[in-house]
Amino acid sequence: MSSVKVNYLGHSAFSIEHDGTTVLIDPFLTGNPKASADAADIKADAILVTHGHQDHLGDTAAIALRTGAPIATVVEIAAELADELGTEHPIYDPNIGGTIDFDWGWAQWVPAWHTSTTPRGTVNTPAGIVINIGGKTIYHLGDTALFSDLALPGQRHSLDLALIPIGGHYTMDRHDAVRAATLVGAPLVVPTHYNTFPPIETDASAFADAVAAEGNATVTVLDPGQSLELQ
Ligand code: NI
Ligand code: MN
Repeated sequence: MSSVKVNYLGHSAFSIEHDGTTVLIDPFLTGNPKASADAADIKADAILVTHGHQDHLGDTAAIALRTGAPIATVVEIAAELADELGTEHPIYDPNIGGTIDFDWGWAQWVPAWHTSTTPRGTVNTPAGIVINIGGKTIYHLGDTALFSDLALPGQRHSLDLALIPIGGHYTMDRHDAVRAATLVGAPLVVPTHYNTFPPIETDASAFADAVAAEGNATVTVLDPGQSLELQ
């Protein structure tokens, strides 16, 4: 089985590639000072969105219109996007706990402790997303505070990678994120949602050192534009 490539696009945005399929997550590129890709030419075969804040919903509608990629996101955001894009555009509308099956794998929406309203004013419940592609399982925590149920996805699924916010202010900080890494239980962690704006500046290498000291996981710090491969 060929490897799964995880590309960090900056902030909370990732693209995951396997066998010619590209899954885009939280594509906030336009207006993102750390974005490593351009919404006008990025590839997407599916777009998954954790919640409706602009720094996650981002360029979802524009990329979906250009590429035809289906969107999957929590039901209230999905309804707003259906209004915006037209009902002929493929949009999946899970709620928390729901799983959507794709021809490339599946994605499950799981709880996150956060708030969310879209830029257009639609209130929605934020989520994390557990993504299975190419035999690998990746848990994108979305925006969340530390809470004990972060351990639950890893009790059902064998996780290969967790994408954990560390910037503080709007999410858990890097100290709580060390505890989150232990709760989640993935062997590999990539920090997200930091250094994009002044309120979320933090020290990713200090986070990596603290996780290493706990002895439960390895941290790979990716700069925007960098990627890792899950073999
Ligand atoms: Ni948010
Ligand atoms: Mn955010």
